[in-house]
Amino acid sequence: MKPELVRSIAALREKVAAWRAEHLSVGMVPTMGALHEGHLSLVREAQRQTDRVVVTLFVNPAQFAPTEDLGAYPRTEESDRQRLAALGADLLFAPPASEIYPEGFDTRVVVGGPAAGLESDFRPHFFSGVATVVAKLLLAGLPDRAFFGEKDFQQLLVVKKLVRDLNIPTEIVGCATVREPDGLALSSRNAYLSPEERAVAPKLHASLQAAAARLRSGAPAADALAAARNELEAAGFAVDYFELRNAETLAPVQDRSEPLRLLAAARLGRTRLIDNIPV
Ligand code: PAJ
Repeated sequence: MKPELVRSIAALREKVAAWRAEHLSVGMVPTMGALHEGHLSLVREAQRQTDRVVVTLFVNPAQFAPTEDLGAYPRTEESDRQRLAALGADLLFAPPASEIYPEGFDTRVVVGGPAAGLESDFRPHFFSGVATVVAKLLLAGLPDRAFFGEKDFQQLLVVKKLVRDLNIPTEIVGCATVREPDGLALSSRNAYLSPEERAVAPKLHASLQAAAARLRSGAPAADALAAARNELEAAGFAVDYFELRNAETLAPVQDRSEPLRLLAAARLGRTRLIDNIPV
Protein backbone atom coordinates (compact mmCIF):
# COMPACT_ATOMS: atom_id res chain seq x y z
CA MET A 1 0.00 0.00 0.00
CA LYS A 2 1.13 3.53 -0.76
CA PRO A 3 2.69 5.33 0.90
CA GLU A 4 5.20 2.73 1.95
CA LEU A 5 6.28 3.35 5.54
CA VAL A 6 9.96 3.34 6.54
CA ARG A 7 11.37 4.08 9.96
CA SER A 8 15.14 4.01 9.41
CA ILE A 9 17.49 6.33 7.53
CA ALA A 10 19.05 3.25 5.90
CA ALA A 11 15.66 2.16 4.48
CA LEU A 12 14.92 5.71 3.28
CA ARG A 13 18.29 5.81 1.50
CA GLU A 14 17.64 2.44 -0.14
CA LYS A 15 14.28 3.60 -1.52
CA VAL A 16 15.68 6.89 -2.80
CA ALA A 17 18.66 5.11 -4.38
CA ALA A 18 16.29 2.82 -6.30
CA TRP A 19 14.41 5.87 -7.66
CA ARG A 20 17.68 7.54 -8.57
CA ALA A 21 18.72 4.43 -10.50
CA GLU A 22 15.56 4.92 -12.58
CA HIS A 23 16.46 8.62 -13.11
CA LEU A 24 13.39 9.76 -11.17
CA SER A 25 13.47 13.13 -9.38
CA VAL A 26 12.69 13.18 -5.66
CA GLY A 27 10.71 15.68 -3.57
CA MET A 28 10.52 15.84 0.22
CA VAL A 29 7.85 17.35 2.46
CA PRO A 30 9.01 17.55 6.10
CA THR A 31 6.19 17.60 8.68
CA MET A 32 5.44 16.91 12.31
CA GLY A 33 2.26 15.07 11.31
CA ALA A 34 -1.34 15.82 12.36
CA LEU A 35 -1.68 16.52 8.66
CA HIS A 36 -4.17 19.11 7.43
CA GLU A 37 -4.89 20.73 4.06
CA GLY A 38 -1.85 23.02 4.48
CA HIS A 39 0.48 20.02 4.62
CA LEU A 40 -1.42 18.26 1.84
CA SER A 41 -1.02 21.30 -0.43
CA LEU A 42 2.76 20.90 -0.06
CA VAL A 43 2.46 17.22 -1.02
CA ARG A 44 0.42 18.11 -4.11
CA GLU A 45 2.96 20.76 -5.13
CA ALA A 46 5.77 18.23 -4.63
CA GLN A 47 3.88 15.76 -6.83
CA ARG A 48 3.56 18.44 -9.53
CA GLN A 49 7.27 19.24 -9.46
CA THR A 50 8.95 15.88 -8.79
CA ASP A 51 8.50 12.23 -9.82
CA ARG A 52 8.50 10.66 -6.33
CA VAL A 53 7.48 12.26 -3.05
CA VAL A 54 8.71 11.43 0.45
CA VAL A 55 6.73 12.87 3.34
CA THR A 56 8.57 12.91 6.66
CA LEU A 57 6.67 12.70 9.94
CA PHE A 58 8.71 13.43 13.04
CA VAL A 59 7.68 15.45 16.09
CA ASN A 60 11.10 16.93 16.68
CA PRO A 61 11.91 17.22 20.39
CA ALA A 62 14.85 19.56 19.63
CA GLN A 63 12.52 22.39 18.58
CA PHE A 64 10.35 22.32 21.71
CA ALA A 65 11.41 24.02 24.96
CA PRO A 66 10.78 22.04 28.17
CA THR A 67 7.80 24.35 28.88
CA GLU A 68 6.24 23.82 25.44
CA ASP A 69 3.71 21.33 24.09
CA LEU A 70 5.92 18.38 22.98
CA GLY A 71 3.93 15.90 25.10
CA ALA A 72 0.55 17.28 24.00
CA TYR A 73 1.43 17.71 20.32
CA PRO A 74 -1.16 15.74 18.28
CA ARG A 75 0.10 12.37 17.06
CA THR A 76 -2.17 10.81 14.41
CA GLU A 77 0.12 8.62 12.32
CA GLU A 78 -2.53 6.19 11.09
CA SER A 79 -4.91 8.86 9.80
CA ASP A 80 -1.94 10.82 8.42
CA ARG A 81 -0.96 7.76 6.44
CA GLN A 82 -4.49 7.36 5.12
CA ARG A 83 -4.56 10.97 3.96
CA LEU A 84 -1.25 10.47 2.19
CA ALA A 85 -2.58 7.27 0.63
CA ALA A 86 -5.52 9.22 -0.78
CA LEU A 87 -3.07 11.58 -2.47
CA GLY A 88 -0.80 8.80 -3.67
CA ALA A 89 2.34 9.98 -1.86
CA ASP A 90 5.11 7.45 -2.45
CA LEU A 91 6.91 7.11 0.88
CA LEU A 92 6.33 8.04 4.50
CA PHE A 93 9.48 8.36 6.63
CA ALA A 94 8.36 8.25 10.27
CA PRO A 95 11.43 7.53 12.39
CA PRO A 96 11.46 7.02 16.15
CA ALA A 97 13.35 9.70 18.12
CA SER A 98 16.19 7.21 18.67
CA GLU A 99 16.82 7.08 14.90
CA ILE A 100 17.27 10.84 14.62
CA TYR A 101 18.87 11.47 18.03
CA PRO A 102 20.62 8.24 19.06
CA GLU A 103 22.43 7.89 22.39
CA GLY A 104 25.38 10.27 22.40
CA PHE A 105 24.01 12.68 19.76
CA ASP A 106 26.01 15.91 20.27
CA THR A 107 25.68 18.16 17.22
CA ARG A 108 23.55 21.28 16.73
CA VAL A 109 23.16 23.46 13.66
CA VAL A 110 23.00 27.17 14.50
CA VAL A 111 21.62 29.57 11.90
CA GLY A 112 22.12 33.35 11.93
CA GLY A 113 20.71 35.90 9.47
CA PRO A 114 16.95 35.40 9.11
CA ALA A 115 16.82 33.35 12.33
CA ALA A 116 17.55 36.45 14.43
CA GLY A 117 14.62 38.14 16.19
CA LEU A 118 10.85 37.53 15.74
CA GLU A 119 10.28 33.86 16.74
CA SER A 120 13.78 33.64 18.24
CA ASP A 121 12.96 36.38 20.76
CA PHE A 122 10.21 34.16 22.18
CA ARG A 123 11.47 30.65 21.32
CA PRO A 124 15.29 30.97 21.45
CA HIS A 125 15.85 27.21 21.04
CA PHE A 126 13.49 26.88 18.09
CA PHE A 127 15.45 27.50 14.88
CA SER A 128 18.49 25.60 16.03
CA GLY A 129 16.19 22.61 16.61
CA VAL A 130 14.52 23.07 13.23
CA ALA A 131 17.82 23.56 11.37
CA THR A 132 19.34 20.48 13.00
CA VAL A 133 16.46 18.19 12.08
CA VAL A 134 15.95 19.64 8.59
CA ALA A 135 19.67 19.24 7.86
CA LYS A 136 19.44 15.61 9.00
CA LEU A 137 16.30 14.90 6.96
CA LEU A 138 17.72 16.50 3.80
CA LEU A 139 21.04 14.68 4.18
CA ALA A 140 19.21 11.41 4.81
CA GLY A 141 17.05 11.67 1.67
CA LEU A 142 19.02 14.08 -0.55
CA PRO A 143 15.86 15.18 -2.39
CA ASP A 144 16.10 17.40 -5.47
CA ARG A 145 13.50 19.71 -3.94
CA ALA A 146 11.98 20.16 -0.51
CA PHE A 147 8.71 21.97 0.09
CA PHE A 148 7.97 24.32 3.00
CA GLY A 149 4.96 26.53 3.78
CA GLU A 150 4.99 30.31 3.84
CA LYS A 151 2.77 29.90 6.90
CA ASP A 152 6.08 29.59 8.79
CA PHE A 153 7.78 32.32 6.79
CA GLN A 154 10.78 32.82 9.06
CA GLN A 155 11.34 29.04 9.09
CA LEU A 156 11.21 29.00 5.27
CA LEU A 157 13.95 31.66 5.06
CA VAL A 158 16.02 29.91 7.74
CA VAL A 159 15.86 26.64 5.78
CA LYS A 160 16.82 28.42 2.54
CA LYS A 161 19.81 29.94 4.34
CA LEU A 162 20.72 26.57 5.87
CA VAL A 163 20.95 24.78 2.52
CA ARG A 164 22.83 27.64 0.89
CA ASP A 165 25.37 27.97 3.72
CA LEU A 166 25.93 24.20 4.11
CA ASN A 167 25.86 23.44 0.34
CA ILE A 168 23.05 20.92 0.72
CA PRO A 169 22.10 20.12 -2.89
CA THR A 170 18.33 20.55 -2.45
CA GLU A 171 16.23 23.38 -3.84
CA ILE A 172 13.86 24.81 -1.21
CA VAL A 173 10.41 25.64 -2.57
CA GLY A 174 8.07 27.95 -0.63
CA CYS A 175 4.30 27.30 -0.92
CA ALA A 176 1.39 29.66 -0.21
CA THR A 177 -0.46 29.53 3.13
CA VAL A 178 -3.70 27.54 3.12
CA ARG A 179 -6.46 29.21 5.17
CA GLU A 180 -9.92 28.48 6.54
CA PRO A 181 -12.70 30.38 4.75
CA ASP A 182 -12.60 32.99 7.56
CA GLY A 183 -8.87 33.61 6.99
CA LEU A 184 -7.39 31.62 9.87
CA ALA A 185 -4.21 29.89 8.66
CA LEU A 186 -4.49 26.12 9.02
CA SER A 187 -2.30 24.83 11.84
CA SER A 188 -2.11 21.63 13.86
CA ARG A 189 -2.27 23.85 16.95
CA ASN A 190 -5.70 25.26 15.98
CA ALA A 191 -7.07 22.07 17.57
CA TYR A 192 -6.14 23.55 20.97
CA LEU A 193 -8.52 26.52 20.55
CA SER A 194 -11.77 26.59 22.55
CA PRO A 195 -14.90 27.46 20.50
CA GLU A 196 -14.73 31.03 21.85
CA GLU A 197 -11.05 31.37 20.95
CA ARG A 198 -11.66 29.82 17.53
CA ALA A 199 -14.24 32.55 16.85
CA VAL A 200 -11.68 35.28 17.65
CA ALA A 201 -8.64 33.64 15.98
CA PRO A 202 -9.30 34.94 12.40
CA LYS A 203 -8.66 38.45 13.73
CA LEU A 204 -4.93 37.72 13.51
CA HIS A 205 -5.11 37.49 9.72
CA ALA A 206 -7.63 40.36 9.56
CA SER A 207 -5.28 42.62 11.52
CA LEU A 208 -2.40 41.75 9.15
CA GLN A 209 -4.60 42.67 6.20
CA ALA A 210 -5.70 45.91 7.87
CA ALA A 211 -2.08 46.86 8.59
CA ALA A 212 -1.07 46.07 5.00
CA ALA A 213 -3.90 48.29 3.72
CA ARG A 214 -2.82 51.15 6.01
CA LEU A 215 0.78 50.78 4.84
CA ARG A 216 -0.26 50.77 1.18
CA SER A 217 -2.23 53.94 1.69
CA GLY A 218 0.92 55.60 3.05
CA ALA A 219 0.51 55.38 6.83
CA PRO A 220 3.76 55.48 8.83
CA ALA A 221 4.80 51.92 9.71
CA ALA A 222 4.86 52.65 13.45
CA ASP A 223 1.21 53.81 13.32
CA ALA A 224 -0.02 50.86 11.25
CA LEU A 225 1.73 48.36 13.55
CA ALA A 226 0.52 50.03 16.75
CA ALA A 227 -3.07 50.08 15.49
CA ALA A 228 -2.91 46.36 14.67
CA ARG A 229 -1.47 45.49 18.08
CA ASN A 230 -4.19 47.51 19.79
CA GLU A 231 -6.92 45.80 17.76
CA LEU A 232 -5.55 42.37 18.67
CA GLU A 233 -5.17 43.19 22.34
CA ALA A 234 -8.72 44.57 22.45
CA ALA A 235 -9.92 41.24 20.96
CA GLY A 236 -8.18 39.31 23.76
CA PHE A 237 -4.83 38.35 22.18
CA ALA A 238 -1.49 38.70 23.96
CA VAL A 239 0.77 39.91 21.14
CA ASP A 240 4.33 38.54 21.05
CA TYR A 241 5.29 40.57 17.97
CA PHE A 242 3.70 42.37 15.04
CA GLU A 243 6.44 43.52 12.71
CA LEU A 244 7.18 44.82 9.23
CA ARG A 245 10.39 43.30 7.80
CA ASN A 246 12.35 42.92 4.60
CA ALA A 247 10.73 39.90 2.91
CA GLU A 248 14.06 38.42 1.79
CA THR A 249 16.27 38.88 4.84
CA LEU A 250 13.76 39.67 7.64
CA ALA A 251 16.04 42.62 8.52
CA PRO A 252 14.31 45.76 9.85
CA VAL A 253 13.03 47.91 6.99
CA GLN A 254 15.25 50.79 5.87
CA ASP A 255 13.20 51.95 2.93
CA ARG A 256 9.58 51.24 1.98
CA SER A 257 10.53 50.30 -1.60
CA GLU A 258 12.09 47.04 -0.30
CA PRO A 259 10.03 43.82 -0.63
CA LEU A 260 8.03 43.86 2.61
CA ARG A 261 6.41 41.24 4.80
CA LEU A 262 4.22 41.66 7.87
CA LEU A 263 4.77 38.94 10.48
CA ALA A 264 2.87 38.40 13.70
CA ALA A 265 2.67 36.00 16.64
CA ALA A 266 0.00 36.24 19.31
CA ARG A 267 -1.40 34.06 22.05
CA LEU A 268 -5.06 33.31 22.65
CA GLY A 269 -5.34 31.61 26.02
CA ARG A 270 -2.72 28.88 25.93
CA THR A 271 -2.54 28.66 22.13
CA ARG A 272 0.15 30.54 20.23
CA LEU A 273 -0.76 31.51 16.66
CA ILE A 274 1.58 32.88 13.98
CA ASP A 275 0.79 34.34 10.58
CA ASN A 276 2.29 36.62 7.94
CA ILE A 277 1.40 38.25 4.62
CA PRO A 278 3.22 40.17 1.90
CA VAL A 279 2.63 43.93 1.68
P1 PAJ B 1 4.72 21.39 10.68
O1 PAJ B 1 4.23 22.46 11.60
O2 PAJ B 1 4.09 20.05 10.72
O3 PAJ B 1 4.64 21.95 9.22
C1 PAJ B 1 5.13 21.19 8.13
C2 PAJ B 1 5.12 22.07 6.89
O4 PAJ B 1 3.78 22.43 6.59
C3 PAJ B 1 5.90 23.39 7.10
O5 PAJ B 1 6.67 23.67 5.94
C4 PAJ B 1 4.79 24.39 7.31
O6 PAJ B 1 5.15 25.71 6.93
C5 PAJ B 1 3.72 23.84 6.39
N1 PAJ B 1 2.40 24.36 6.76
C6 PAJ B 1 1.81 24.34 7.99
N2 PAJ B 1 0.62 24.97 7.94
C7 PAJ B 1 0.45 25.40 6.67
C8 PAJ B 1 -0.59 26.12 5.98
N3 PAJ B 1 -1.69 26.53 6.60
N4 PAJ B 1 -0.41 26.39 4.66
C9 PAJ B 1 0.72 25.97 4.01
N5 PAJ B 1 1.72 25.29 4.59
C10 PAJ B 1 1.59 25.01 5.90
O7 PAJ B 1 7.08 23.19 10.35
C11 PAJ B 1 7.26 22.10 10.87
O8 PAJ B 1 6.29 21.13 10.93
C12 PAJ B 1 8.60 21.69 11.48
O9 PAJ B 1 9.23 22.83 11.99
C13 PAJ B 1 9.53 20.95 10.47
C14 PAJ B 1 9.90 21.84 9.29
C15 PAJ B 1 8.87 19.66 9.98
C16 PAJ B 1 10.84 20.56 11.20
O10 PAJ B 1 10.58 19.79 12.31
